[in-house]
Amino acid sequence: MPNVIAVLNPKGGSGKTTLAIHLAYALKEHGRTLLVDADIQGSARDWSAAGSSGLPVIGLDRPTLDRELQAIGGDYQWIVIDGASKVEKMVASGVKAADMILIPVQPSALDLWACAPLVDVIQARQQATDGRPAAAFVVVRAKKNTSIAREMRRAVEGYGLPLLPHTIYDRTLYARAITEGTTVQAMDAASEAANEIRLLTNRVLEAFDGV
Ligand SMILES: Nc1ncnc2c1ncn2[C@@H]1O[C@H](COP(=O)(O)OP(=O)(O)OP(=O)(O)O)[C@@H](O)[C@H]1O
Ligand SMILES: [Mg+2]
Repeated sequence: MPNVIAVLNPKGGSGKTTLAIHLAYALKEHGRTLLVDADIQGSARDWSAAGSSGLPVIGLDRPTLDRELQAIGGDYQWIVIDGASKVEKMVASGVKAADMILIPVQPSALDLWACAPLVDVIQARQQATDGRPAAAFVVVRAKKNTSIAREMRRAVEGYGLPLLPHTIYDRTLYARAITEGTTVQAMDAASEAANEIRLLTNRVLEAFDGV
């Protein structure tokens, strides 16, 4: 069975698609990988059409996502779900389908607190299924030379879900890569952006080794 990682945050524009694409592209070095676009906007599908990443992308944008994935997922080792915004049923279905949930949050306590309903859904699922799926926040679009990551660490305390120590910074290379249907790794494998994606991907790989 595949390892399913869902990138979820009901807040629009929180960085889900950018993170999901880069993580999936990195995971494809570690086994057959499928990117599932769970958003009716179809951003990941648009990205795929804009370039030639070699990453298979399919759209599953109904709340039956978790069941549909069971039917098709067997061919893959890794599945990354790019979650939808605002659609509660889609978020719940993503939570059900996932072995691991990454929640990208921009470096503001307000953005973190806006995730409270998602955290509730995840924790209810964890209680029903022996602590699964694992879930963690990832700070994205952090500004260089600010202490915001440290402040986020304080804000997340007592929230029930961890914040990964792997931060994704605000870099124009991400936006450029997405526009061109590619990734920061493919554009410049030696870039700081590619490096931070590598570190995050290693963290994900480690987590699954331990499963
Ligand atoms: N690390 C980053 N550095 C710079 N820009 C970023 C980064 N991550 C995301 N962005 C930009 O932020 C905007 C929103 O990102 P993205 O589309 O990934 O969010 P989303 O959560 O998928 O949005 P939606 O809820 O509409 O699906 C985009 O313009 C994207 O280019
Ligand atoms: Mg998106």
